[in-house]
Amino acid sequence: MNKILVKLPRANSAQYSIRIIENLPHNLKKLLPAKNSFSSLVIITDHRVKKLYGQTLSQELQQQGYKVLLFSFPAGEKYKNYQSKINLENQMLRQACDRNTLILALGGGVVGDLAGFIAATYMRGIQFIQVPTTLLAMVDSSVGGKTGIDTPYGKNLIGAFWQPQMVIANIHFLQSLSQKHLINGLIEAIKIFITRDAKSFYYVQKNLSDILQKKPKHLQTIIQRAVKLKTKIVQHDEKETHERAVLNFGHTIGHALEKISDYKILHGYAVAYGILLEAKIAQLLGFLAEENYLMIQTLFTRLGIQAKHLAQFNIQKIIQATKLDKKIKAGKVQYVLLKNLGEIVKQQKSVVHPVEDQIVKNAYLAMRSQNYVR
Ligand SMILES: NC(=O)c1ccc[n+]([C@@H]2O[C@H](COP(=O)([O-])OP(=O)(O)OC[C@H]3O[C@@H](n4cnc5c(N)ncnc54)[C@H](O)[C@@H]3O)[C@@H](O)[C@H]2O)c1
Repeated sequence: MNKILVKLPRANSAQYSIRIIENLPHNLKKLLPAKNSFSSLVIITDHRVKKLYGQTLSQELQQQGYKVLLFSFPAGEKYKNYQSKINLENQMLRQACDRNTLILALGGGVVGDLAGFIAATYMRGIQFIQVPTTLLAMVDSSVGGKTGIDTPYGKNLIGAFWQPQMVIANIHFLQSLSQKHLINGLIEAIKIFITRDAKSFYYVQKNLSDILQKKPKHLQTIIQRAVKLKTKIVQHDEKETHERAVLNFGHTIGHALEKISDYKILHGYAVAYGILLEAKIAQLLGFLAEENYLMIQTLFTRLGIQAKHLAQFNIQKIIQATKLDKKIKAGKVQYVLLKNLGEIVKQQKSVVHPVEDQIVKNAYLAMRSQNYVR
């Protein structure tokens, strides 16, 4: 088992551990806090994960003498909303869950964000444990304490920073995950490697086919490295006032693509196109060498993500949608700019930089004239 500690520099020196394990699901219970440290355990999951793992886990914990309640909601981003939150909270209230209830968020990023937000607000805040079951949730969403729900006005607009008591990433769960969702999560890991750790980028390049075959050793390495990098960033900047913004690489364009596709494109895939266009911007601005851009492009092509597919989106609409970004400053859209593989541009201590719309357009057109976009 691999254990990574997250230490947050607050007055109460909050701290929690992330455990990366490679066991069958029933071994999870060995890591849970002692039975007498909480009044009841509420497993929140989606309908799909409930069938795959939730019911068995809940039965096993009950047999062990835990008081367990299992609540689920329909799978998918469109259920990460107010209504699901209210329904789950009402079920908890009906069952007299109190301030000592412990929530266990069992599922992908949707479950983690929603269950975490319930934990942040139920009786003014209760404890929760993240048990991510998708690669995206293991490498990204379960770490860092961002919780929330989507609204008709945009994604993740209502939420809270609420740190889990523990994160248990059990690689075994990934065996039932589709290739599409595996790649979706891998892109978030690649994103963090591109900005922080060139060696890990080359590791993915070299071992891609084993990773896509879900070989546990490689999954473990990727999760461990991505989590360590994210943990380091979050420890320095829990609430995204400066350094944490590096995690938004590829996301300014990625979020815009999600929005204009009405969220039909998966988050990771939108971020992959975002990475390509944002890397191209850095190249046009003279920061990134073309060979590095091409290395990223080649890796994504091997994942079935081709720059030319970006042409399905209108550049004016992309630029317009970037104006809705939460991170916009004084009317200017901010971008993380690559300097090299594993290194970003930092100017006056800032990791994000305003980029003129015309440059974004030029980057799109440059890709097009080089036949990357048709
Ligand atoms: N909080 C953060 O810092 C943060 C960071 C990145 C993304 N997110 C959020 O994460 C969400 C996306 O997460 P996601 O990609 O995990 O989506 P998801 O939670 O919708 O899971 C994807 C699908 O996989 C299924 N699934 C989950 N685990 C499975 C398993 N082991 N085997 C088979 N199927 C399984 C789910 O039922 C679902 O249908 C978005 O809402 C995004 O906003 C949050």
